[in-house]
Amino acid sequence: MKILVMGPPGAGKGSQASRIIEKYEMPSISTGQMFRDAYNAEEPIGIEAMKFIRDGNLVSDDITNKIVRLRLHKEDTTTSFLLDGYPRTVAQAAALDEMLVEMESNLDAVINILSSHDVLFERMEQRRVCKKCGRTYHLRFKKPSVDGVCDKCDGELYQREDDSHESVKRRLEIYETKTKPLLDYYSEKGILYHVNGMQDFDKVTDDIFLVLDELV
Ligand code: AP5
Ligand code: MG
Repeated sequence: MKILVMGPPGAGKGSQASRIIEKYEMPSISTGQMFRDAYNAEEPIGIEAMKFIRDGNLVSDDITNKIVRLRLHKEDTTTSFLLDGYPRTVAQAAALDEMLVEMESNLDAVINILSSHDVLFERMEQRRVCKKCGRTYHLRFKKPSVDGVCDKCDGELYQREDDSHESVKRRLEIYETKTKPLLDYYSEKGILYHVNGMQDFDKVTDDIFLVLDELV
């Protein structure tokens, strides 16, 4: 099964992706996480990408398409994968189509997680992320057992550089103008499924599994 998880920033893509990949045993490819990992490892691509990410802007299509292409060429993506946060522009969707043709493959479903802007602002301001393993917390809805420490790996929790109020505003603007139009593109292909992301974690997961169980 090859799927995309789409939705505005803070909709719950990463949180739900981790549950989907556990159930259906597939690799998750999150371009945002790849950029953050590269930045934390002080790799040039990560340092370059963070210049855009910090202020809520998109990284260039060229760089982004290149890292996805390299990742999709690894062996573990032959039968299944989940893409989180890619594609985000029309040019990226076209590049992904090309990659899929090269792989003699196609997408089975695009899950779009819906949410209102009020909810998104609150979620991102309250989000904390583990520096070591990338696991995501929420200071009210998904608190770590010990303040500032990851339950899974004891890593340090931090607030993402792009979770400031100004960056979130910018990310939402970009989502509306550049990414949301892609929903029509996937709707026309007949593979788009909407899920209400303003429910509790488990209900959102159940709704996603209802869609995906039909496809396996
Ligand atoms: P990326 O990392 O993909 O960020 P994003 O799309 O802005 O989405 P987020 O990761 O912020 O939110 P999410 O939907 O994963 O929500 P989460 O599960 O964490 O990209 C970051 C940046 O990298 C981009 O802005 C861009 O600069 C660059 N980039 C990435 N991909 C790119 C591309 N393709 N092209 C160009 N540039 C690219 O949840 C959010 C919070 O809410 C958490 O605290 C969570 O615990 C909580 N929460 C989640 N679900 C629920 C629920 N149901 N109830 C209560 N709380 C919930
Ligand atoms: Mg995410």
